[in-house]
Amino acid sequence: MKVALTYNLKKEDESKPPDYFSEFDSEETIKAIASALFAKGHSVISIDAAQRDIFTCLKKHAPDMVFNIAEGTSNRLRESEIPAILDFLKIPYTGSNTVALALALNKGITKKILRADNIPTPPFQIFVKGNEPLNPALRFPLIVKPNREGSAKGINVTNVVQTREGLYAKIKEVITLYKHEALVEEFIEGRELTVGILENGKTTVLPILEIDFSTCAKSGEYFYSWRMKEYQGDAEMGLTPTFHCPADLDKETEQTIKDVALRTHRAVGCQDISRTDIRLSKENIPYVLEINPLPGLNPKESNFPLMAYAAGMKYEDLIEAILLSASERKG
Ligand SMILES: Nc1ncnc2c1ncn2[C@@H]1O[C@H](COP(=O)(O)OP(=O)(O)O)[C@@H](O)[C@H]1O
Ligand SMILES: [Mg+2]
Repeated sequence: MKVALTYNLKKEDESKPPDYFSEFDSEETIKAIASALFAKGHSVISIDAAQRDIFTCLKKHAPDMVFNIAEGTSNRLRESEIPAILDFLKIPYTGSNTVALALALNKGITKKILRADNIPTPPFQIFVKGNEPLNPALRFPLIVKPNREGSAKGINVTNVVQTREGLYAKIKEVITLYKHEALVEEFIEGRELTVGILENGKTTVLPILEIDFSTCAKSGEYFYSWRMKEYQGDAEMGLTPTFHCPADLDKETEQTIKDVALRTHRAVGCQDISRTDIRLSKENIPYVLEINPLPGLNPKESNFPLMAYAAGMKYEDLIEAILLSASERKG
């Protein structure tokens, strides 16, 4: 198959905020995906989605299929940018469509859909202006997040607030920095889990991955914050979480969590691949934080490949499965 790989490249640029490129992919990831596709017998052309003539470029190459990992560069609907162009050009692509991508990027609207489907998600409130009265039903500690970001951009330990004063200060900061609304959520004490779904002929829920931060005490970080993700593995900073896959869970809890992730995948309308982030509360309730239709695919560092390896897949098999799932849809 003639495959085009569309991506946004992570760069070094000190004129930008430190998390500016966090959502984008490294050269290592792009090369790994291209090599995997090549190893499976496909021809591959890699296309930087930020180039201005992307439209002409895609038209010229006319690939049979686009393997899309581009996170996009515009604000509100950035993850849908490339799929929208591809739909217009009638070029099929891997992964979710424009609707699911735009929806999943908006955590607040996603949470409303989850609630309508009785999928547990932490109680929340959206702050557009920043001075709205706080819903008295919300219980501290609360966490403040940009409503439409990923890679834990704008999320660090100081985003967990204990007081009204701290809350409004953080909301203001997030709105100013990210130039869009803030999502305020009850902070769920408990275990950090993430669940991968892969549609490889059938729908497979991969072994659940637990990210254990008890080995990070030295860093002062205790959840999957931006620093934790960005510098993951840095022993000097103490940012060395432990990964358990499959997570040690009793059968019933494991089944409930897998079911919640699958229902989330379907509620949002994801295709081929997704990763749902969950906090398992002390009361054993799996609260869905969000779903990622474009999960990181770095062969060494990203969560999703770890789950595929635990299921006995090689990296090449994972990439090929995503491509074949999209090809079946095309067929
Ligand atoms: N309500 C919450 N309770 C506990 N931890 C949270 C909550 N929201 C976010 N976190 C922590 O912050 C991380 C990033 O938040 P998430 O909602 O997944 O945003 P992102 O899209 O940036 O990954 C989570 O993986 C988790 O460790
Ligand atoms: Mg997340």
